[in-house]
Amino acid sequence: MITLALRLLTPADASAVLRIYSGASVAFLGRPAMTVHESEEYVAPVRHRTGSVSVSVAQYVFGVEVAGDLVGVVKLGRRPGGQGRVGYVLREDCWGRGYATQAVQQLITFAFVTVGLDSLGAKVHPDNVASGRVLEKAGFTPLGMRGRMITYRLAASTD
Ligand SMILES: CC(C)(COP(=O)(O)OP(=O)(O)OC[C@H]1O[C@@H](n2cnc3c(N)ncnc32)[C@H](O)[C@@H]1OP(=O)(O)O)[C@@H](O)C(=O)NCCC(=O)NCCS
Repeated sequence: MITLALRLLTPADASAVLRIYSGASVAFLGRPAMTVHESEEYVAPVRHRTGSVSVSVAQYVFGVEVAGDLVGVVKLGRRPGGQGRVGYVLREDCWGRGYATQAVQQLITFAFVTVGLDSLGAKVHPDNVASGRVLEKAGFTPLGMRGRMITYRLAASTD
C-alpha cells in the first residue's frame, strides 16, 4: 500500500507544480500549460491581512505527495451554504496508480470532518472517463449533464 499525503505547497514546489500542469494533464482543464512565472505565483505564500478584518478561505489547495515526490494538486473550493467543489490534477507519468482516488478520498475527509461542509460537487467533461471514474470510486453520484459537463455530488454522512 502506497503512502500518499496531502500537504501545503511551498515556494520550493514551483518546478514540481510546473511539471504537473503540463502536457496531457492540462488538456481537460481547459487551460494551457503553466508558465514558469505562473508556477512561482502559484506556490507563493498568501499574505493574510491582520487586524480587525477577518479573511474567509475561498479555496484550499494541497499538494499530493508520494514517497517525497509531489505528483499532483487537489483543490477544495468553498461555496455558500456549506457546499464545496473539488478539483484535482495528477502529473501524467503518475496516472493509473490510484493516486487521484486516494487524494480525493483524503480531500473528502478534510472537507467534511475538518471544514464541516455538508456536500461536495464536481464537474467533468464526458470525454474525461478517468476523472469520472475517480469520483465514482470516491463515492460521488453522477447527476447528469449540465451544459457540456457531467455534474457529480456527494453528501456528508449523517451517521
Ligand atoms: C483524471 C486524473 C486525475 C486521474 O488520475 P489517476 O491517478 O490516474 O486516477 P486513478 O488511478 O485513481 O483512477 C483512474 C481510474 O480511471 C480508469 N481509467 C483511466 N483511463 C480510462 C479510460 N480511458 N477509460 C476508462 N477508464 C479509465 C482507471 O482504470 C481507474 O479506474 P479503476 O481503478 O477502476 O481501474 C488524471 O488523469 C489527470 O490528472 N488528468 C488531467 C486533469 C484532469 O482531468 N483533472 C480532472 C478535471 S475534472
